Amino acid sequence: MPLDQLGRPLTDLRISVTDRCSFRCVYCMPREIYDDHEYLARGEILHYGEMTLVARAAASLGVTKVRLTGGEPLLRKELHYLVAQLKEVDGISEIAMTTNAQLLAAQAVELAEAGLDRVTVSLDGLDDEVVRRVIDTDVPVSVVLDAIDIAEAAGLGPIKINAVIRRGWNEDQVIPLVEHFRGTGHTVRFIEFMDVGTTNSWNRAEVVPTAELVETISARWPLEVPKRSHASEVAETYAFADGAGSVGFISSVTAPFCGDCSRLRLSAEGQLFTCLFATEGTDVKAMIRDGATSDDVAEVISRVWTNRDDQYSQLRGAVPLDMPRVEMSYIGG
Ligand code: GTP
Ligand code: 5AD
Ligand code: SF4
Ligand code: SF4
Repeated sequence: MPLDQLGRPLTDLRISVTDRCSFRCVYCMPREIYDDHEYLARGEILHYGEMTLVARAAASLGVTKVRLTGGEPLLRKELHYLVAQLKEVDGISEIAMTTNAQLLAAQAVELAEAGLDRVTVSLDGLDDEVVRRVIDTDVPVSVVLDAIDIAEAAGLGPIKINAVIRRGWNEDQVIPLVEHFRGTGHTVRFIEFMDVGTTNSWNRAEVVPTAELVETISARWPLEVPKRSHASEVAETYAFADGAGSVGFISSVTAPFCGDCSRLRLSAEGQLFTCLFATEGTDVKAMIRDGATSDDVAEVISRVWTNRDDQYSQLRGAVPLDMPRVEMSYIGG
């Protein structure tokens, strides 16, 4: 099993199945840029069989967990076919998906039946006005909340709810989100606004540090000492002292977690990336379309992983902000 330059194993594969999304979250796909954006053409995007081949190669090197992302993964037709194919890969014990949930209600049952284990849903508030401003799309919060219930009933729970908190936009949604999901078995995870890509006008003043949120939440509901459930987990989880579940924090800006980062990313276009903040990927589509086997792809992954020394979040500040970087919607969060 390959280790990278910092001794980190490869355990997780995140597959971005499309670079398109039906939302225009201001921190991810600002409308003024993405309405007019040149998306990948159909022929450029990997087929499910090609994605599965990469997953098989990755599994032979130690990957046990696959996460489907986008853009919005449910915009790909019949995504459950991909799930079913991934389910057949030896070594993969968990398949999860991160979604905006707009199309989840209609597909939850077939995805669960195909073998999807869990979903993570993005939801940045409970108030329709606030959320509409953030996602810049006319989708009521009730659509997402209903989808969460339906997904849970389909067996895709407990569900993680991702909320990106950005100063001046939705800090007032923190307490309502916690209140709503406490005691439901689902876990809200607050994400610090990250400087991913170059189109979201990131600036440090808009980052709400986790420490501030912990203080706000614990003043209302006392929290216990945090823990990470496994080393490569991105979130730190605090249990409510009263036993009503837990709340998570993803603090990529104030407490980077590169030391344990074991994630490889595959773009919809067939490029491998070893960091969310990478500037360049390694193409595997051409070789696959030329007849490469999963063993051939495993060789490439192994070489890429062995050479890997990424720790962008840890070095943040030392790297110029205007350096070219791949976009979140392309690389899949
Ligand atoms: P689980 O570990 O299964 O809970 O999945 P996850 O938390 O990795 O998946 P999710 O797609 O929900 O990601 C949550 C947030 O963490 C997103 O904002 C991601 O962009 C961010 N994130 C995930 N992986 C990384 C990473 O390697 N580095 C950084 N900086 N952020 C990450
Ligand atoms: N900063 C932090 N999180 C982000 N996401 C998308 N863009 C950003 C950003 N700039 C989150 C989404 C989704 C997850 C995959 O990434 O809200 O939940
Ligand atoms: Fe779409 Fe998710 Fe990006 Fe929002 S954060 S624009 S839902 S991919
Ligand atoms: Fe991993 Fe790069 Fe994120 Fe660090 S910044 S945790 S190396 S993806």
